[in-house]
Amino acid sequence: MSAEREHILREMGLGPAWKLRAAPAPIPADEVVAPSPTAAEPPREIAPTIAPTIAPTIAPTVATTAPLAAMGWDELAATVTACRQCRLCEARKQAVLGVGDRNADWLFVGEGPGAEEDQRGEPFVGQAGKLLDSMLAAIGLKRGNDVYIANAVKCRPPENRTPAPEETATCRPYLERQIELIQPRLIVALGRPAAQTLLQSEVKIGAARGKLHDYRGIPLIITYHPAYLLRTLLDKAKAWEDLCFMRHTMQKQKDR
Ligand code: URA
Repeated sequence: MSAEREHILREMGLGPAWKLRAAPAPIPADEVVAPSPTAAEPPREIAPTIAPTIAPTIAPTVATTAPLAAMGWDELAATVTACRQCRLCEARKQAVLGVGDRNADWLFVGEGPGAEEDQRGEPFVGQAGKLLDSMLAAIGLKRGNDVYIANAVKCRPPENRTPAPEETATCRPYLERQIELIQPRLIVALGRPAAQTLLQSEVKIGAARGKLHDYRGIPLIITYHPAYLLRTLLDKAKAWEDLCFMRHTMQKQKDR
């Protein structure tokens, strides 16, 4: 095994925690990806309840008086907890809103709760979550400390399948409201469903990573989902580069 590969494996959880050793290269200005027309749209005024797209016969159990766009955290949490706007509500144990610092500079967005998350009500608490925690630690971050973690969909897709486009679309206003409330300096999309939900366009991770995207004026970086990294050792080296890029981008945001 080459020294480089051995080094990478050590960094990727088959050894001690990741450590940031070198400052990442500056991002050339031409690497900033222009926001898609949809991403540049101003926040939408969202109706008090989201129009059901899948199970129109299921009525929300909590009548919300405020439009989503006017909700604070408590109302938003209650609305998500009671949400029955798509079929994902049928098999969930509970909806999982998100976890962390509600004034965080860093927002990480995953795909959707898995079995453990559904059980415990917190995102990324299983194996993928352990890797995410190591990734955070590698750039000096800690869950809950200037970091908020959310998902594209708030309810567990059965059998841990990828959420369907109509499910991410139905749940998206909740994520949008979370972003409006948090006002992070940087959003990190973990994997394709999160990236596509946020950018409202087709994304290929291999092509989209390493570039600066834009979500309504907030820089957005796309990287691999930790669950994918657990299966695909070789791409962990790229994830490491992405972490350095994130850290560098945040520093630039703070220096502005
Ligand atoms: N994978 C995700 O995308 N989110 C979680 O919360 C857990 C696993």
